[in-house]
Amino acid sequence: MKNIVILISGRGSNMQALLAASLNCNIAAVISSRADAAGLAFAQVRGVATEVVSHKDYPDRESFDAALAEVIDGFLPDFVILAGFMRILTADFVAHYQGRLINIHPSLLPAYTGMHTHARALHDGVRIHGCTVHFVTPELDHGPIIIQAAVPVLPDDTEHSLSARVLFEEHRIYPQAIRWLCSGQVKLNTDGKVIHHGRSLAGMALISPALETT
Ligand code: GRF
Repeated sequence: MKNIVILISGRGSNMQALLAASLNCNIAAVISSRADAAGLAFAQVRGVATEVVSHKDYPDRESFDAALAEVIDGFLPDFVILAGFMRILTADFVAHYQGRLINIHPSLLPAYTGMHTHARALHDGVRIHGCTVHFVTPELDHGPIIIQAAVPVLPDDTEHSLSARVLFEEHRIYPQAIRWLCSGQVKLNTDGKVIHHGRSLAGMALISPALETT
């Protein structure tokens, strides 16, 4: 069975969705960059090992990432799962976990990398927004895409209502992506492309606003 380590910084709702999902892997640890991350208590109650590696204890990004990697590697992970981990990682850290480091981002990448994705989507008036699970590469919020969920943007949406609709889908697609990875159904090819084994990719469309039925 594969081992995974989940990294959080705060609320940890994606981590909670992963813990609740009866995954086909061993969740070896939840590691937080903040001691006050709300998600830590949830993991502890469920008997998952927790650790805190605070960026405030290190003078620079390099030494923080090195200390973090040492703690992570102590759990011998096959995959390292970023779930609301709010630190930008160095290229060395990303290279160390090449093909094993996964992130979820609240937009349909490559649109809206970075912060405030929902506000920016509302500002631009897009009709479809969503979330993306992807392999991490050194460039922030880029990297080969495993799965995306798209949701409509409704006329009276606020940042709050839109983020809640997207988050609901995050909690569905992240467990699915990890299941695929742990069963070997999804792999990162040597050419950097994501390969889905045995999955039909046909027949789905979200059109927003909906087409008229005539
Ligand atoms: C999520 O929207 C995730 O996509 C982004 O940060 C947020 C984390 O939320 N990377 P949570 O801590 O999982 O509740």
